[in-house]
Amino acid sequence: MKKTTHFGFEEVPYEEKVRKVAGVFHSVAGKYDLMNDLMSMGVHRLWKRYTLDMSGVRRGDHVLDLAGGTGDLAEKFSRMVGPQGSVTLADINDSMLKMGRERLVNDGIVGNLQYVQANAECLPFPDNHFDAITIAFGLRNVTDKEAALRSMLRVLKPGKPLLVLEFSRPVIKPLNPIYDAYSFKVLPLLGKLFADDPDSYRYLAESIRKHPDQETLKAMMEEAGFEQCAYYNLSGGIVALHRGYKL
Ligand SMILES: C[S@@+](CC[C@H](N)C(=O)[O-])C[C@H]1O[C@@H](n2cnc3c(N)ncnc32)[C@H](O)[C@@H]1O
Repeated sequence: MKKTTHFGFEEVPYEEKVRKVAGVFHSVAGKYDLMNDLMSMGVHRLWKRYTLDMSGVRRGDHVLDLAGGTGDLAEKFSRMVGPQGSVTLADINDSMLKMGRERLVNDGIVGNLQYVQANAECLPFPDNHFDAITIAFGLRNVTDKEAALRSMLRVLKPGKPLLVLEFSRPVIKPLNPIYDAYSFKVLPLLGKLFADDPDSYRYLAESIRKHPDQETLKAMMEEAGFEQCAYYNLSGGIVALHRGYKL
């Protein structure tokens, strides 16, 4: 029997999820940065700032920004590691990668950045290679998350962290109805008005609901072999940053 998984609220075969996720990101790539600012009212910048601060990345480090998309984190890491270090912006989707490269090159962020089209589930890098890995709002879209976590563990150097920034479960329960209304009504409307693409933003809301909650993701990281795993709720748990180390 064919293995199935979810694409938003739909149950689909594994290969179909890969195809459908690719469709979403090909479709949103051109408006991705604008929509991120609109939907989060700019707060995604603070969540990303926190991720950078928690990464412990220093000059000379080699960093992998996985599912890096248009390169928000990669841009900042490029400055943090300096000319002796390197940043690899990896993403499965060539449209997102292209937007990222264009943006960073236009901003003059060049020299210590490389772009790699890669699937998080089978990373094309040597063992024990990176000083830090980030995956921001990416893991939710990966079909085989366990395989992706194992692959990230393999390419991390011992003693170094993986940081997973992702939508999670709000902890202030009375706010849930407002959050639901925002997710299922406002997001598709913004998608329709500003990107002519309500379906991709409906997928966003649905995929957030299907993503593992804080404790489940922490357990998945431990199961994959990460140690000292912990998470930090941001904006009341709308988003959580999980961090774990390869020891
Ligand atoms: C919501 S965007 C996040 C982009 C960026 N990290 C950010 O925080 O703005 C999710 C990204 O995950 C990428 N992605 C989805 N599945 C992936 C996979 N299996 N391997 C690598 N990247 C993947 C998508 O192509 C997309 O660029």
